[in-house]
Amino acid sequence: MAAKIDHEKLKKLHEREEKRFIAEHPRSAELYNRAQGSLLGGVPMNWMKKWAGAFPVFVKTAKGAHFTCVDGREYVDLCLGDTGAMTGHSPEVVAEAICKRLREGITFMLPTEDAVWVGEELKRRFGLPYWQFTLTATDANRFAIRICREITQRSKILVFHYCYHGTVDETVVSLKDGVVGPRRGNLGPAVNPAETTRVVEFNDLGALEDALKHHDVACVLAEPAMTNVGIILPVNGYWKAARELIRKYGSLLIADETHTICAGPGGCTKEWNLEPDLFVMGKPIGSGIPGGTYGCSEDVARRIAARINLEDCDVGGIGGTLAGNALSLAAMRVTLEKVLTADAYKKMIPLAKRFNDGVAKEIAARGLPWNIQQLGCRAEYTFCNPAPRNGGESAAAGDFELERFLHLHALNRGVLLTPFHNMALMCPATSEADVDLHTKIFAEAARELTS
Ligand SMILES: Cc1ncc(COP(=O)(O)O)c(C=O)c1O
Repeated sequence: MAAKIDHEKLKKLHEREEKRFIAEHPRSAELYNRAQGSLLGGVPMNWMKKWAGAFPVFVKTAKGAHFTCVDGREYVDLCLGDTGAMTGHSPEVVAEAICKRLREGITFMLPTEDAVWVGEELKRRFGLPYWQFTLTATDANRFAIRICREITQRSKILVFHYCYHGTVDETVVSLKDGVVGPRRGNLGPAVNPAETTRVVEFNDLGALEDALKHHDVACVLAEPAMTNVGIILPVNGYWKAARELIRKYGSLLIADETHTICAGPGGCTKEWNLEPDLFVMGKPIGSGIPGGTYGCSEDVARRIAARINLEDCDVGGIGGTLAGNALSLAAMRVTLEKVLTADAYKKMIPLAKRFNDGVAKEIAARGLPWNIQQLGCRAEYTFCNPAPRNGGESAAAGDFELERFLHLHALNRGVLLTPFHNMALMCPATSEADVDLHTKIFAEAARELTS
């Protein structure tokens, strides 16, 4: 018999954890109260209010897989800046390379040799021949979309239900009873996203084909495995067939591997031989120094070159004064050369398996109707069983209160999970002991919830 969660009990457990959290973080509380006078909502970015706990923990220092808060508590960081710090915090080699660059000039509107090195390395890893740089993955997605619209002369893009690709207007969408509209919480949409976007469920080839049949989809913007509504893996043969459909209907595939770079040094693109037309990545590519990139195929490069002229190339909607700056590129070079190496993945992926196995064992032992999925060095559990096959199914299994309790419970015992998910990410500095600490804490929480 699968164990049911008693929400009355959950509420009491949460109140207990909240009291402990407040008592143990007086300095964070003080800073949060002070911030009410100068930061909108008391935080530097609005989503920071959503952390489990009465206020966010303020960080003092971080190194490798650990950080210390202003109250002097140390944590195992399984959030790792939601992939921005998948390299581990401030790897020594990165700190050295960046400090050197900081002393020798940060931004010029001119290229450095590092850009060429990084372009060559991205080409080697992902197979696409030409690359450009941005400050964020969001920007890389926006520019990749613009290119697709321009060269196909089609108006729409296609995304999967419950996708997240950053703050790209066209992607803040939802699908309700087959109707596309703004996603709940979408602030100030310029237009109803139904005008710009088709939305289908992941792993549904029939729905994909129906949407592509309109011949108005410039590109399919997709994570090869969904990672922002739990981890949703493609079913066997999905991408091979989806890729063929995208080609058949004259659309282009943008693989957004900002998170799925966890699958291996060449992302899912290499692991699964995806052959995207464009490729996007950001976050960890510079160990957290702002930087993003998009690459394109020979064919896309030829088609875009035919439509851009020198006189207007700075005002066409693709740009950013700081994009491609020397600091970002120095950070990307050292990260790719010395941190996110094939050897690093050989260490990180088994750790995610250890995490996965530990949690799976506890889920089974407690009869919880949950599942855990792993993709490379990332693992995440969701509150349903079997694992969801698409965004709609996964979102339907969400339990905001349960998630907040589990996060706060872990935080109070020294482990930071990725907020708004139950995701854990391994970096090269994560240890087996770090993973086992989480397993122990998870087991305690599962016991409390089911006894
Ligand atoms: C798959 C994916 N793409 C793009 C982004 C946007 O990254 P950024 O917020 O760094 O622009 C995110 C952010 O979480 C993401 O998960």
